[in-house]
Amino acid sequence: MSPAARHALIERLPKAELHLHIEGSLEPEMLFALAERNGVEIPFASAEAVRAAYDFSNLQDFLDIYYQGMSVLVTEQDFFDLTIAYLRRAHADNVRHVEIFFDPQGHTERGIAFATVIGGIARALDEGQARLGITHRLIMCFLRHLSEEAAQATLDEAGPFLDRIDGVGLDSSEVGHPPSKFARVFASAHDLGLHVTAHAGEEGPPEYVHQALHQLHVERIDHGNRALEDADLVHHLARDQITLTVCPLSNLRLCVIDRMEHSPVKAMLEHGLKATINSDDPAYFGGYVNDNFRAVADALDLSAAQIVELCENSFSGSFLPEAEKARLIAELHVAAGAA
Ligand code: HPA
Ligand code: ZN
Repeated sequence: MSPAARHALIERLPKAELHLHIEGSLEPEMLFALAERNGVEIPFASAEAVRAAYDFSNLQDFLDIYYQGMSVLVTEQDFFDLTIAYLRRAHADNVRHVEIFFDPQGHTERGIAFATVIGGIARALDEGQARLGITHRLIMCFLRHLSEEAAQATLDEAGPFLDRIDGVGLDSSEVGHPPSKFARVFASAHDLGLHVTAHAGEEGPPEYVHQALHQLHVERIDHGNRALEDADLVHHLARDQITLTVCPLSNLRLCVIDRMEHSPVKAMLEHGLKATINSDDPAYFGGYVNDNFRAVADALDLSAAQIVELCENSFSGSFLPEAEKARLIAELHVAAGAA
């Protein structure tokens, strides 16, 4: 398949995005505009200078800048503007459904009210559904470098907003903060009827993927790259058809892989794993979901059938009801068949 034909296919296919940190969609231009609007000092002279600082050698390098960037988000309107900008961009990539992460602790720690954060995000998600036809789920992540008690307090604080929160996730600095640290909080979230997912195996060992499955009882694994190091784990993930939300450009920019040719996506598909393609933090890693598809499909010479499979996995691995998954997958196959 020629690169041009491959790119046309990627652009034409409907898809879902299941691994997107809304704070990671803060483009340098908006970061700058919001800093000015809110009178927040940032140590950069221009949007270009911000972009030039996005040179990371590992996850922590990125996280330091990511948390700093968030400081410009202050009002409900800021969270609305951030989220609607992402939804418009996703719409251009033929994204039909999004499952968005947000990091409440990154905001409440700075004195921003939970209601301000969720109010702006939820209002934009509603507008995205009404105006762009994009359906959504919202996933609240716990910052794993903070304590179990802080995570539980965040879950308690979310109580009044659970009509807008569909699931919980686990993100931030992985190594040294195993999933087991949050087993009790995830059990509480599960009891509240929330979906559960966790970042595991991005930098952390296969053991963390194992713990996410068996101690947090996750429905999906976010990233999951290092699961491939453990044959038993691969067998388990394939048998139970656990969705993996892989983020190729993120992996490259955070040096999880040294070249796109080393992305685990093709190997995962060949092992029968349910891999999906996602942008993670698109403003920081150089691209939105179709940029990720193009980069990984070109580097790994993915077939048309594999590209369609990745899109199908994004719907089947979502938290949508089965009937809605089936409707979107049928639409996908119609689009895939069109010349
Ligand atoms: N990994 C962990 N935490 C994160 C990420 C990520 O890729 N993006 C935003 N928070
Ligand atoms: Zn992530």
